[in-house]
Amino acid sequence: MSRQLFVTTALPYANAGFHIGHMMEYIQADTWVRFQRMQGVNVDFVCADDTHGAPIMIAAEKAGKTPQQFVADIAAGRKQYLDGFHISFDNWHSTDAPENHEMAREIYRKLRDLSSAEGGSLIEVRTIEQFFDPQKNMFLPDRYIKGECPKCHAKDQYGDNCEVCGSVYAPTDLINPFSVLSGAKPELKNSEHFFFKLSDPRCVEFLEDWTQNPNKPGNPKLQPEVANKIKEWFTVRTNPDGTTSEGLGDWDISRDAPYFGIEIPDAPGKYFYVWLDAPVGYLASLKNLLTKRGVDFDAYMANPDLEQYHFIGKDIVTFHTLFWPAMLKFSGRKTPDNVFVHGFLTVNNGEKMSKSRGTGLDPLKYLSLGMNPEWLRYYLAAKLSARNEDIDFNANDFMARVNSDLIGKYVNIASRAAGFINKKFGGRLAATPTFELAIRYEASGGTQGTPHVDMSDPMLVQNQSPLAALLSDTLRMCQEAYEERNTGLATRLIMSAADAVNAYVDLKKPWILAKDPEQADLLHEACSVVIQAFRILTICLKPILPSVASEVEKFLNVDRLDWAAAHQTLAAGHVIGEYQHLMQRVTPEQLDALFEPKEPVQAVDSAGEAPETIATIPGGEAIAPTITIDDFAKIDLRIAKIVNCEAVEGSTKLLRLTLDAGEGRMRNVFSGIASMYKPEELVGQFTVLVANLAPRKMKFGISEGMVMAASHGDEKANPGIYILNPWPGAQPGMRIH
Ligand code: 2FM
Ligand code: ZN
Repeated sequence: MSRQLFVTTALPYANAGFHIGHMMEYIQADTWVRFQRMQGVNVDFVCADDTHGAPIMIAAEKAGKTPQQFVADIAAGRKQYLDGFHISFDNWHSTDAPENHEMAREIYRKLRDLSSAEGGSLIEVRTIEQFFDPQKNMFLPDRYIKGECPKCHAKDQYGDNCEVCGSVYAPTDLINPFSVLSGAKPELKNSEHFFFKLSDPRCVEFLEDWTQNPNKPGNPKLQPEVANKIKEWFTVRTNPDGTTSEGLGDWDISRDAPYFGIEIPDAPGKYFYVWLDAPVGYLASLKNLLTKRGVDFDAYMANPDLEQYHFIGKDIVTFHTLFWPAMLKFSGRKTPDNVFVHGFLTVNNGEKMSKSRGTGLDPLKYLSLGMNPEWLRYYLAAKLSARNEDIDFNANDFMARVNSDLIGKYVNIASRAAGFINKKFGGRLAATPTFELAIRYEASGGTQGTPHVDMSDPMLVQNQSPLAALLSDTLRMCQEAYEERNTGLATRLIMSAADAVNAYVDLKKPWILAKDPEQADLLHEACSVVIQAFRILTICLKPILPSVASEVEKFLNVDRLDWAAAHQTLAAGHVIGEYQHLMQRVTPEQLDALFEPKEPVQAVDSAGEAPETIATIPGGEAIAPTITIDDFAKIDLRIAKIVNCEAVEGSTKLLRLTLDAGEGRMRNVFSGIASMYKPEELVGQFTVLVANLAPRKMKFGISEGMVMAASHGDEKANPGIYILNPWPGAQPGMRIH
């Protein structure tokens, strides 16, 4: 019976499109899934939008939508990425779907209602003290509280950690805290929270065994570096206030209304924290898929041979190796068979925005430029291994790797042989008996080991048979590498085999043979061997290059290429199709376009031209070159209320303004107006904000916009800077046209 796999990638938050990191994870998982399917394994590969939580609720409010509408709009944008990069999910669902509401509540009830014979409930209710926004009428998540760092006194720091000195603390430790949502001073209020007792000896014992005993049947074989990291969590943990405690802590799984999430059974106004119901979304998406197929979910999950795998990033290991398996185990469900952890992806070494090439790699921009999705699939596969390591996308390396490997080595092989077969032999392949023999011999056990060219092997009597032996070894070793998710090794094996095939072509010199009619048989056989070899290389590459492989299937006039057929060869007389070029090269122009900054970098003055002579220079500054109304429309000026204003310690020029531009959040803006205004005289005033200026990191924090102010061109001679004040009636958020 063939294996049955249930595979997921992490569920992305439904608050934005995908970034390149998402695509890397989907490509890694998709390659593995396609490999499994090619060897006849049944795989159900699912994902869903992770829809709940305060940030999505707030983003929806800001967008003037219900959370449901907001996440539905995000979901509608998923297909273009997934189809674009050939990601073969069987289902895409939502954590806000009924299946997830039901299953999350069911799991919770099981954990809550464990009998005393089973060791008692794993859910506990405790009263905790938390910040509350009296204007928004809601408890504030840590990220929505800002204030002064209790350690280094940097202003404008988040409630959980300081970006200046890096210290970790509780939001209640902040000095002069304020709500990011309303600017109001938050109040401390008591609230009942629900905790999952992860510190219970049952959980600790189970998790220590589950994560640290990879050889025990039923336990995952976690990557060693992942298991080692987890090991530390059993002895020490970091508390929100930066102190450390012994062992696993209990997990706060509830949030108070208003919250976009799943209401906790028998607890009106209390919702599951998003991370409680998010992984349940894996099961909900699977259930949704099975229902569409008419398959019973419980029966499917009860299959003792079912294997469950999650591909995730290194930042969410705790959730997947502690909370999630414990939830499953103690609610009587199947635990994952493994959790595959990958590192982060940086782009161009995370280098800073440069004038010629910006940073970031926008997946949709990549596609819209007509760049081939399989270039990216190949490049990432070549860089990824089974290890939890960060990798870097480097534009020049990408171009060199794709052009040299895929075009120069692999695609080239088909083009070197197909023309002769088609023109001289009507597309018919010659018999390639020795090649066939060697392939079969190797498949039946052959000479195991590293790829080799062993001329002393009695089976290898002609000089194409070592090639077959090498290809056969490559097939086997590639299979092992794919199984282990070591796609970097697989690509290296494939490319070294491609080198050998190209060397074979160089040795046979078909272009010379073609000139001599007496050598026709030799030409025919040599080119047929090359086509056989190309077919095998294509099988090896198919998990990474599904679309190219499907083109090759048409070109070779064969059924679906898979591992079962790998050790067969094309029969003598088999007719291949016309060769069409399978892949274009990457060009530097494409990469320039991909990484060019979104907005052109503004030149300060018009490229070296002599300035116009101006009779009078108003305000000490010449009028800037003419712009169109469209240019002006790019600048979004808004009325903003100065909710707070304070001096900036260490700066004589700057004032720190907290501005309300009607967005449901506050902005922090620094302005060089300290010489003109006392902070208290500005509080409550309305002014003009450049609202779409990119945020700027300054010594004292991040400035999220710019307040407009008038000054003379020659500030030294004519000091003074004056902010703008609208006439009565203008309200925060109004746009200035
Ligand atoms: O970190 C994240 O992006 C989460 N949305 C991942 C959730 S994975 C699973 F648990 F749903
Ligand atoms: Zn600090």
